[in-house]
Amino acid sequence: MEELREIAEPLLAWYDGHARKLPWRDNPEPYRVWVSEIMLQQTRVEAVKPYFERFLKELPTIRHLAEVPEERLMKLWEGLGYYNRVRNMQKAACRIVEEYQGEMPADFDRIRELPGIGSYTAGAIASFAFGIPKPAVDGNVLRVLSRVTKSYEDIMKQAVRRKMEERVEAVIPCDRAGDFNQSLIELGAIVCVPNGAPKCGECPLKMLCRAHAEGVEEELPKKTPPKSRRIEDRTVLVLLSDNRAALRKRPGKGLLAGLYELPNLEGHLEREEVLAYVRELGLSPVRIQELPRAKHVFSHIEWHMEGYAVKVEEPEGDPKSMFFVEKEEMERRYSIPAAFAAYTEYFRHRF
Ligand code: ADE
Ligand code: SF4
Repeated sequence: MEELREIAEPLLAWYDGHARKLPWRDNPEPYRVWVSEIMLQQTRVEAVKPYFERFLKELPTIRHLAEVPEERLMKLWEGLGYYNRVRNMQKAACRIVEEYQGEMPADFDRIRELPGIGSYTAGAIASFAFGIPKPAVDGNVLRVLSRVTKSYEDIMKQAVRRKMEERVEAVIPCDRAGDFNQSLIELGAIVCVPNGAPKCGECPLKMLCRAHAEGVEEELPKKTPPKSRRIEDRTVLVLLSDNRAALRKRPGKGLLAGLYELPNLEGHLEREEVLAYVRELGLSPVRIQELPRAKHVFSHIEWHMEGYAVKVEEPEGDPKSMFFVEKEEMERRYSIPAAFAAYTEYFRHRF
């Protein structure tokens, strides 16, 4: 007897009364579910809302997503980070246009095969949008289920996730597959929370939850700790000429591929070293000012940044691989990763 069989009824009753109203829940068409779930993979619900609205307004259909120029797509994603998520979405959108006339296929396996769509996202789209009884097991759901079943297995292991998916699949109510999956996600987001104590007092599963029965809910779930991040020291330059600042495009491969950035160098450089570099670019510095330090955390790397604002004489032409832009154009046109925010802010406020 699958012990999870009993969770559906209380969960759905709770969901009907307690689910948050979220923009992508009102009208769960496949494209909206897809966009929201990709955005939600690394970003909090509150932060996603304005991005979601803006994205859907500019790219209202899968066809629009397939056709939008890459630079504009990066601009729409600016600030969300993990830009490969949206590059993969565009690849998938092109496939959907080519193979399915621009409509998301109503088939779990076909959805799962698309670029950037893993079993969680495929399950979310299939169940929320089409009512297909497939599981959508993300970190929220793994936490809830590890606690309910008092499982000490490592949820970072693929095999453990797969087993949990099978157990969920066996108990999805066929008439409310989407709501059932959402109810598990929602419980994990607002009751059986990740940080701090779960709110067992208000949990619809408290009578069934084995971890709660034994008072061990806060020991679960078990996870192998993530690998520690590599630390990179960088020196970021705000090169100012008149009311313009220098930008350059990052290489097409690797971290933050193809996005724009403020010029920056490896290591923490002294003033004199920075001035020498600026002169090497063929620019004539007239003033240099130290800017505050800043840190940015990526998934595998941490940037520890120092910065300088360097005012230069107006150059004859743009220095190699860089170009100067005004604030308004920088904001409208170029997608600059949030890693540089401390320094782009300096430029923004100065003009
Ligand atoms: N986090 C990830 N997916 C979510 C969803 N559909 N609703 C609320 N929080 C989520
Ligand atoms: Fe989580 Fe507590 Fe509910 Fe168990 S009873 S599922 S630990 S909130």
